[in-house]
Amino acid sequence: MERFELKNARYLASDVMQRLIQPGDTVVDATMGNGGDTVFLAQLVGEQGRVYAIDIQPAAMKRTKERLEAEGLIERVFFSLEGHQHLAEIVGGPVRAVMFNLGWLPGGDHICTTRTETTVEAVLQACSCLLPGGLISVCVYPGHEEGMRELEAVTQFCRNLPVRTYTVLQHRFINAKAETPQLFLIQKNA
Ligand SMILES: C[S@@+](CC[C@H](N)C(=O)[O-])C[C@H]1O[C@@H](n2cnc3c(N)ncnc32)[C@H](O)[C@@H]1O
Repeated sequence: MERFELKNARYLASDVMQRLIQPGDTVVDATMGNGGDTVFLAQLVGEQGRVYAIDIQPAAMKRTKERLEAEGLIERVFFSLEGHQHLAEIVGGPVRAVMFNLGWLPGGDHICTTRTETTVEAVLQACSCLLPGGLISVCVYPGHEEGMRELEAVTQFCRNLPVRTYTVLQHRFINAKAETPQLFLIQKNA
């Protein structure tokens, strides 16, 4: 049996999502990137479920589609290149979960990183779409200038969420370097 160890922000986000998402659920990958999270979510929602996969880069959608085709999961996914700041309009209804993995496309152009203003707007819209008991995960990478701005803005946004409606957790390794990724989990109270 594998020995338990504390793992990174992305691992924790996936672990929590795996516990929450049920077959038939509607969920969102708000930063498609290379499609790792989209494939993961498509597996969790099953044949009757639906994943909305969002990115602004056509290259991200192309890679993600290739991965989904290879796994036989593409029918479960709706794609949008509109940008997650339009999340509520793209999704158009309640969702069980939304995953954000901020930063830039791995192996892609660093200029095309997520941006503080659109990130905060997107998380706000994700909150408005959440079902009771639903969950948002936001992985933040403060190792670059825009990532540090995002960390500050997401922290502030989360602090201001009403405690009656949302339970919010910030996960960080407090003895690690300042640039170590951090995870925010926002659950709408049932
Ligand atoms: C770190 S990557 C995501 C990694 C991905 N989840 C995976 O499993 O490979 C961040 C992505 O966010 C995308 N992005 C940047 N601004 C965006 C926006 N406004 N709306 C949606 N996606 C955006 C980037 O193009 C990039 O592909």
